[in-house]
Amino acid sequence: MSRLLRIKPMSMLSQEAGEQGEHTLKRSLGALNLITLGIGAVIGAGIFVLTGQAAAKYAGPAVALSFVLAGITCAFAGLCYAEFASIIPIAGSAYTYGYATLGELVAWIIGWDLVLEYAFGAATVASGWSGYFNSLLQQYHIYIPPQLTTTTGNVLVFYKEQWTPLMTLPPGIDATGLPHVTGICNLIAVAIVMVITTILVVGIKESANFNSAIVIVKLGIVGVFLAIGGYFLFRHPEVAKANWHPFIPPSDGHGNFGWGGIPRGAARIFFAYIGFDAVSTAAQEAKKPQRDMPIGILGSLAVCTVLYILVSTVLTGLVPYSTLNVGAPVAVGIDATGISWGATMVKVGAVFGLATVMLVMLLGQSRVFYSMSKDGLLWKWASAIHPRFRTPWITTIVFGVFAAVMPAFLPIDNLADLVNIGTLLAFTIVCAGVWILRVRHPKMHRPFKTPLVPLVPILGILSAGYLMTQLAFITWAVMIGWLLLGLVVYFGYSLKHSKVQNLPQAVEAD
Ligand code: ALA
Repeated sequence: MSRLLRIKPMSMLSQEAGEQGEHTLKRSLGALNLITLGIGAVIGAGIFVLTGQAAAKYAGPAVALSFVLAGITCAFAGLCYAEFASIIPIAGSAYTYGYATLGELVAWIIGWDLVLEYAFGAATVASGWSGYFNSLLQQYHIYIPPQLTTTTGNVLVFYKEQWTPLMTLPPGIDATGLPHVTGICNLIAVAIVMVITTILVVGIKESANFNSAIVIVKLGIVGVFLAIGGYFLFRHPEVAKANWHPFIPPSDGHGNFGWGGIPRGAARIFFAYIGFDAVSTAAQEAKKPQRDMPIGILGSLAVCTVLYILVSTVLTGLVPYSTLNVGAPVAVGIDATGISWGATMVKVGAVFGLATVMLVMLLGQSRVFYSMSKDGLLWKWASAIHPRFRTPWITTIVFGVFAAVMPAFLPIDNLADLVNIGTLLAFTIVCAGVWILRVRHPKMHRPFKTPLVPLVPILGILSAGYLMTQLAFITWAVMIGWLLLGLVVYFGYSLKHSKVQNLPQAVEAD
C-alpha cells in the first residue's frame, strides 16, 4: 500500500525543472504568451456552440447565470492551480501536482483522467469546428458530400440551401418533404485535427506565435459581436425585453429550466472555461514560470469570464433561446441584427478561433504523457523528443490520431460531457492537493499563495463535485470505465517501471 502512496520528491522535480539541452523542451514563452495560450485554449466551442444548446435545452436566458456559477467554480480551482504551478513549474499539470503531494496512484489517476480533458477536449472542439467550417463553405455553395460532414447515423436535411441536422430545424418546420441523408463519419473534423497535429510536431515556438495571432482575431470577433449585438439591443429594447422574459423559464418538470436548469446548464457550459489550466502544462516552456504561471492562469480566466457573461446575455437578448440549438448559434444571433456580413465574420472567426483551442488541448495532452513517461509510468515512446523539432512527436501523433477518430463518430454533446466530468474530477483533486501540501509542508516557498486555505480548496471541491452530479449516469459510467482501464495499465506496467519506486530511501525522504 505504501508503494502506491509514494510521492515524487521536490528535489527531483526541481532538478527536472532546471534541466536544459537537446533532449529537453525549449524555454521560450513569456507572461503574455501564457495569457494568450490560456485564452487560446479557453474561448472555443463552449461559447461558440454549446452556449446555444445550453440555453435552448437547459437554462434559457439564465444561461448567463450558469456562466457565473461555472466561472466561480473555475476561480476556486484556478487559484489552486496557480499555487501549484508556481511551486512546481514542470510540464504535466495536475498530474505532476498530484505526484508531488498525494502519491503515485492518485497522480496516475489524474494523468489518465486528463486524457478525458485534453484529448477528448480537442475532439469535441474539432466537432464544433467542422460545424462552423461546413456552414461557411455552404454559404458559398461549396458542398462536401454531406454524409462525410457529420457523425454516424445523424440525419441531415437540406433546408435554406444548407445541410443541417434534422434535430436542429426550427420548431414548426415540416421536414418530410426535404432531401435527407444519413451521416457516415465526420471527415472534416478528422482533417483539422491532422493539420493541428502537424503544426504541433513542427514546434512549440511556431505554435505559440500562430496561437497569439489567432487569439487577437478571436477576441476581435467576440468584441465585434458584443458591439453589434449590444448596439442593436440598445436601439431595440423591446426585442431584448421579449427575449429575456422570463429570464428563468419555468421548469419542464424534468430538471430542465427553472432554478434547477441553471446548474444543469453550468455543468454543460463548464466546457467553455476548460483550458486555462492547460497553461500549467507549458510550465517547462515558460521563461519565468514562478511569476508567469499564476498570471497566465488567472489572467486568462478573468478575461474569459467577463466575455462569456456578456456574450450569453447579448445572444439570448437577440433571438428567442429556443432557436439556439444549432451548430453556429452566435452566427444566428448576429444575423438577427440584420448586419449581413456579421454571420460570415463570426464563422470565419470561429474557424480560426477553435483551431487554437485544439492546438492547446493537444499540446497539453502530449505534455502530460511526456511527463508520465519521463517518470517511468508510461512507455518510453511517449517522451521521445524529435531531435530537430524538439517536440514530443510520437505522443503528439498518437493523440492526434485518437482525437481525430473520436469526433468522426461521436456527437459533440456526448464528447463535451465526458470532458466536463474528467476536468471537474481533476479540479477536485488539485484543490485537495493544495490543502494537503499546506498541512504537510507549511514552510515551503510558495511564490503564489492560494488565499484563504482551506476555505478556497474546500469550496473548489464542493462546487466541482456539485457540477459533476449534474451530469448524466452514462457520462459517469464511461469515466469510471476509463479510470478502471487506467488502473490495469498502472498495475500491469507503471508500478514496475516507476522511477520514484526505484529511488534510494535517502532521496525519497526528500
Ligand atoms: N474551453 C474550450 C472551448 O470552449 C475547451 O472550446
